[in-house]
Amino acid sequence: MTIKKLNILLGVSGGIAAYKAPDLVRKLTATGAQVRVVLTESATQFVSPLSLQAVSGNPVSTDLLDPAAEAAMGHIELAKWADILLIAPATANCIAKLAHGLADDLLSTLYLATSAKVYLAPAMNQQMWFAAATQANLATLTQRGIQIIEPDSGEQACGDTGPGRMPEPQYLASLVTQPEAAQVLKGKRIVITAGPTREAIDPVRYISNHSSGKMGYALASAAKALGAEVTLISGPVALDTPAWVNLVKVESAQQMHQAVMLAVAETDIFIGCAAVADYRPVECVGQKIKKHNQELTLTFIKNPDILADVANLKGAPFTVGFAAETQDVSHYAKDKLQRKNLDMIAANDVSDRTIGFNSDQNALSVFWKDGEKSLAVADKGQLAMQLMLLISQNYNEKHA
Ligand code: PMT
Repeated sequence: MTIKKLNILLGVSGGIAAYKAPDLVRKLTATGAQVRVVLTESATQFVSPLSLQAVSGNPVSTDLLDPAAEAAMGHIELAKWADILLIAPATANCIAKLAHGLADDLLSTLYLATSAKVYLAPAMNQQMWFAAATQANLATLTQRGIQIIEPDSGEQACGDTGPGRMPEPQYLASLVTQPEAAQVLKGKRIVITAGPTREAIDPVRYISNHSSGKMGYALASAAKALGAEVTLISGPVALDTPAWVNLVKVESAQQMHQAVMLAVAETDIFIGCAAVADYRPVECVGQKIKKHNQELTLTFIKNPDILADVANLKGAPFTVGFAAETQDVSHYAKDKLQRKNLDMIAANDVSDRTIGFNSDQNALSVFWKDGEKSLAVADKGQLAMQLMLLISQNYNEKHA
């Protein structure tokens, strides 16, 4: 899939979520877009122009009256340059200014001067989000064709709980760069497993693997950006929950099996991206094992095969597996496709340490009954979007 080279103007206003701006710039540039950043004065208290200049590779503008910046690219020129204006985070104050047409700083002036498609990712305290004034301002902007990206819900920096968190950068990047794809999975229910499982040996020890969850979480973000209702069943990872995704946390393979079997009824698509431990210790002893002996022997028993169990359900969802291989990747992947009765399988070569486990990048060879496609090395966010589009295409063909 080729992604059109876009000029994206990222406006950052002064809220705590501004700390995510460098990551957002990285995710936007990873799609092949050109990114320029404009900061409001208060945003410079949360994130430095220098770090945004480094990640975007372009000068960062902060001041309407800066002669040097105006000489390089004047604000009207900047407004015309943009295909997309994304304001993230958009504070309540910024939203109010835009709704009322004020132009007292660079960002609000650019908003009035641009004909670009405008997206706002509001981020604020939940009470401020619910305030009648904020909701009225958002309604005004929506009527004017501005796309408001719903904030994430959860615990907030101020300690409150509710809507007002800025969605994850990967989600925002996918949403604004691929709007044409935005609805291909609308109304589809998707269950995705991600991360490792931990198999307890005693109360303080376990066996596990190097899965970081990045690939599975990127798939959840991509599926959400394409309009699906997503349930993410995750082993222990150190990642933020993607926006608007129903997260179920588990530890062991048996817990993951149980959570999947509960979630998978009425599901359209199941994707098994988790690195599920194939075996677990026969028993998890009640007390910490003492180191009296030179040798310790553990006996393992096979875990349930979650993917195969889903694929063999009566009325099974469209089932997609992953294959982590270190040799003869396509041979083993095709074997798993057939043996586990899958609709599709995405294989990665985990002998290459620069991709696969715990890396930001991956490359996939995808197989289905009468086709295959290679997805070249890319950021996991980008790759997840390509894979989700391929899955959607095959799903539609099967149900045509
Ligand atoms: O999490 P990251 O650091 O981003 O790394 C991503 C990844 C390398 C973990 C991911 O891309 C990947 O390859 N996931 C599958 C890992 C794996 O367990 O592969 P496998 O070939 O052993 O298993 C084949 C399939 O069966 C997988 O879909 C797996 O989820 C599933 N399985 C395996 C065993 C089991 N008991 N139950 C299962 O459902």
